[in-house]
Order: sequence, then structure tokens, then C-alpha cells
Amino acid sequence: MWYFWPSKVIYGENALDFLENIAGKKCFIVTDDVMKDLGYVDILTKKLKSLGREYEIYTGVHPDPHEEDVLEAREQCLSYQPDLIIALGGGSVMDVAKAVLALYDYPEYTLDDLYPMNSELYNLGKKTQLISIPTTSGTGADNTFAIIISKKEEGIWKKLIHAHKGLVSSYTILDPIFPAGMPPRLTLNTAFDALAHSFENFANTWRNEFSNALGLKAIELIFEYLPKVYNKNDNMEARDMLHQAATIAGIAMGNSSVHIGHSLAHSWGSIFKCAHGEAVGILTSYIVQYLLNNPESDEVKNIYAKMARQLGWSEWADSIDDAAYSVVRKIKELQDKVDFPKNFAETGVSKEDMETNLDMMVELSFQDPTITMAPRSINAEQIKKIYRYAFEGKDIDF
Ligand SMILES: [Fe+2]
Repeated sequence: MWYFWPSKVIYGENALDFLENIAGKKCFIVTDDVMKDLGYVDILTKKLKSLGREYEIYTGVHPDPHEEDVLEAREQCLSYQPDLIIALGGGSVMDVAKAVLALYDYPEYTLDDLYPMNSELYNLGKKTQLISIPTTSGTGADNTFAIIISKKEEGIWKKLIHAHKGLVSSYTILDPIFPAGMPPRLTLNTAFDALAHSFENFANTWRNEFSNALGLKAIELIFEYLPKVYNKNDNMEARDMLHQAATIAGIAMGNSSVHIGHSLAHSWGSIFKCAHGEAVGILTSYIVQYLLNNPESDEVKNIYAKMARQLGWSEWADSIDDAAYSVVRKIKELQDKVDFPKNFAETGVSKEDMETNLDMMVELSFQDPTITMAPRSINAEQIKKIYRYAFEGKDIDF
């Protein structure tokens, strides 16, 4: 048995208008100060006012949200007693809102109760539904069942993953008015995060036909629309398509999994505090190469070769090897086209700092549950080598 678990998706210009069709008098908005400063909270509250809804706002979400953000938002939510929770923001905001949804329904819970085998969580929504309104095009957090909350342990902010299918938003509203305000670097980082979701979704132990179909479409859309949109905000059609692509990739990933790229990117991000999309976007081509080089199995090679042929990156008559490795070449071409870094050296981290932290990053990578979904196993030495190769921009040859 397996199952496919997406939210209801409303997309396109003026998608925000759909709020009138979702019941709920008292709305609890989870967001952050950036959304407030950009005027996005005003856009939402103006709409709610026009619909005669009441609202209260929590703006305390930090990037890489802390456990304290969740607990603070939960307190405000419990005191307000809403019948609708609305997440307005990027992945951090949506992750906090997902946690608040569960801790509001079950006030006796802690974050540790949000785990996949907790059958009570399938019944979330007794008090409220969750509407996610992503303002970036990348995280797919509106449709993933995992939440990443940072907690300080042994002096390090560790990114801890909690997960349950019941945490997926009831509705995702994709209005391109929000991502249209993203600066180029944020557009790039979030799009490469979505791309990493799609590629890792394709080759992992939970992949399935539903997620394969969506992952393929997401890759096609990102390759087509990111170059049109990354350094200009006025192409609303392209913004709309890229925004849809991120959620399509999110649904794919939420119904299969990510793996090594994300494990290593989470660890790198914990140490060097760089944007998740930048870390995982740099790692993607190296991880694809590592999977293709598997001496024990051609499984991933066959998967990526078929994908490359379906996307028109390779001729059907090409050899499996040529088709499969064209994926690595295409990722690098896209990086060149939009000025995305192809190695960690370009991000300003020094080689010495990386070497000093390698053991810790290996330890953190093995603590990240997504690493278990990889289609090729990996050991500590291989992880270190991938970081070193990705730092120098060297092709993976092992
Ligand atoms: Fe990601």
C-alpha cells in the first residue's frame, strides 16, 4: 500500500480571491517581519477585511525557525482560538504554521509528538484548516509533510526534522503577485531548491509513478521559466509558471522523498548559515553524478537516461551513459545561464573552514533521516569527498 497526499491547489493571478470560498471567521496569520515590511501582510489583511473576516497576526518566525518560534505562535493561537490558520511566507513560515496546526489541535503535544507513526495526526483539522500562501517559488513546504525546526544542542543550532502526512496544508494558494517581488538571488536559491527536490524525487527509494510524473514536469518548467524570470519581476506569466513549478516539485517530493543532497545541504547550512537553496543547488549536480557512478547498479542511470530523453536533452538513440550524464551537463548549463554558483568556493567559505568542520558535517548528515532514502549508500569518507569535490568544482569520479 502507498498513498498520494497533496493539498488542494489554487493558482494563477488573483488566486487570493479564492479565500472567499474557504469557511472560517477568525483567521490566525503566521508570517514574519519581512512579509510585513514588503506590504504582503497588508495585501492579505485587506482581502480578509473585504470578506468580513477577523484576524490576528504572528510575525515572529525567524529564518531557519527556532523551537521557541513555534511555542510562542502556539500560545498566541491557543489564546485567540481561530477557525482558520493562514501561513504567508516562505518555507520557515509554513513549517511553523504546520507545527502550530498540530499543537493547536493537540495542546498537550510537544514537537517530539510530530512523527510519522502517530496515527492521531491523520485527524488534524478538528479546530481549523491550514491555508498556505507561499511567497517564494521553491520550498514546496505547502505540500511536504516534514517540518524543519532548529534547536540548540551542544552549542550548535541543529536542524531537526519532524514529519507526518497530516501536516500537509489543506489549501495552497499560488498567487504570482507574491513571488514577483523576490530579488534575483532569492529567486535563484529557491528555484534551485525546487530543482533539487525534483532530481532527488526522481531517484530515491520512495519514488512512485505519481511523483515521477510531477517531478518531470517541474524540471521542464524550471528550466524553461527560471532564465526568463530570475533578474526581472515584470514577467508575470513566467512568475506564475515558476511558482506552479515549485509546488509541483513540492507535491512530488512530499509524496516520495529527497535524500543525500538535502542531508549534506542541511549539514552545510547548519555550519555555514548559507541559504538552503544555495547549498542544495550547488550539490545537485555532484549528487546526480555520485548516483550515476554507482558500481553496483545501473538503476539510477536508467532512470536519469529515460528522464533526459523525455525532456529532449538526449536523443533516444543515444547510449544510456550519454543520456544519463547529459543531466549533469544540463544542470551546469542552467547554473551558467543564470549566474548560480557551481561550487562552494564561490560562496566565500574558506577551504580551511570547510576542512575544520568536515567531521561535524558528516555526523550531522548521518543524523538527517533523508539520507536513508538514497538509492546508493554512502559512507563518511564519501561524504567528505563530495564536500571537497563540490568545493573545488571537480567532477565526481568515485
Ligand atoms: Fe529543499
